[in-house]
Amino acid sequence: MSAFVTVATVDQIPPGTGRTVEVHGVWIALFNVGGVYYAVDNTCPHAGGPLGEGHLTDEVVECPWHGWSFNVRTGERSGNPNITVACCPVKVEGNEVQVALPPELERYRS
Ligand code: FES
Repeated sequence: MSAFVTVATVDQIPPGTGRTVEVHGVWIALFNVGGVYYAVDNTCPHAGGPLGEGHLTDEVVECPWHGWSFNVRTGERSGNPNITVACCPVKVEGNEVQVALPPELERYRS
């Protein structure tokens, strides 16, 4: 796992919303689910859509390109858990939201 990087302050991502952030040169989708932050690979495994720009309903984000949906806590695709996006470690330090890259995304770092 990489070192944690500060990507936002807690007030920048209200509950029920998400955004795309950069962690060591890798695009990551960060979400606030009821005050708990989750981060997954931003790249949709269907055709590369930006999950950080998708609509969030509870723990599930819908890809803005063709509607595949993923649980942002587990990374599993709705209805087909064999398709996943990588989940990233997240922590909150003071008012800073920090994200690290998991081993499966380390090869993409710059
Ligand atoms: S690229 Fe995400 S559903 Fe097609």
